[in-house]
Amino acid sequence: MENEAYHVPVLLQPSVNGLNISPNGTYVDVTFGGGGHSIEILKLLDKGRLIAFDQDPDAKKNLPADDRILFVDQNFRFMRNFLQFNGITHVDGILADLGVSSHQFNVDARGFSTRTDGPLDMRMSQNGEKTAEKIVMTYTEDRLKQMFWLYGELKNAGKIARQLLIKREEIKINTTEKLKEVLLPVTPRYDDYRFLAQVFQALRIEVNEELKALEELLIQTIEVLAPDGRLVVISYHSLEDRVVKNIMRSGNLKGQQEKDFFGNLIRPLEPVNRKPIVPDSSEIETNSRARSAKLRVAQRNK
Ligand SMILES: C[S@@+](CC[C@H](N)C(=O)[O-])C[C@H]1O[C@@H](n2cnc3c(N)ncnc32)[C@H](O)[C@@H]1O
Repeated sequence: MENEAYHVPVLLQPSVNGLNISPNGTYVDVTFGGGGHSIEILKLLDKGRLIAFDQDPDAKKNLPADDRILFVDQNFRFMRNFLQFNGITHVDGILADLGVSSHQFNVDARGFSTRTDGPLDMRMSQNGEKTAEKIVMTYTEDRLKQMFWLYGELKNAGKIARQLLIKREEIKINTTEKLKEVLLPVTPRYDDYRFLAQVFQALRIEVNEELKALEELLIQTIEVLAPDGRLVVISYHSLEDRVVKNIMRSGNLKGQQEKDFFGNLIRPLEPVNRKPIVPDSSEIETNSRARSAKLRVAQRNK
């Protein structure tokens, strides 16, 4: 399946429009992937520059031949450090298109797909030590339950955790097929595809510490964005969207409205739209990955 498109960008025009690009500005695409958003940003730049992060080394092969773009093969949680180290104090816009690329799903050896057999890996970066196998084979029952409940929103999280604990005594659960097989007794007869997608999603989020990395990134954006700079985020599930909404409305991850000494609301960012922008039906029809996408845009207050 390697010759499939690397990734079809989601909400391409509205997200790039959200950056409100000035041709000589500095922008960061923290999730380069197949480069769809980055290439669109480059089209609008003149002497400006673009710094593109992706922790998956596979993404690098999509780099366009353009010396205005600098690729950083690191986790975006290191964005501020990287920029500071390179003498960049402020940027005019940051775009994050969260989650995994279609390429990552399509390569069986990465272990992201529920449809094909592969090693129980799910790491976006090969530098990570935590694989899905390690989680399934070593986490306590409580930790597994919490993970499936929180990140997979699975009602039978407790049963899944119990089943894994019993079965891992008998076999090494080290492939996606073996995982599906051991979970058969707790898999609903109808809607099994949805169930497995949620199980895999929970594991993937845990393996890559996706929420933690996102929270760290969001906090840094406040410091790094220049006045009037834009933060543009496309998220794909409610846990991601909640923290994005919170930071854009209140400047903190919990969404607590805080006041300064004089009683004025502290609002480092101003949401540009009241409601998130979602793909229209024609985009969803041609790209099913767009189904759950939500785009939020905010502007750095002066
Ligand atoms: C949905 S894809 C982005 C697709 C891209 N916008 C395009 O148009 O092709 C998400 C990408 O972000 C990368 N990624 C996810 N979390 C990351 C993180 N914490 N640090 C760096 N890259 C990350 C993934 O490896 C993946 O390639």
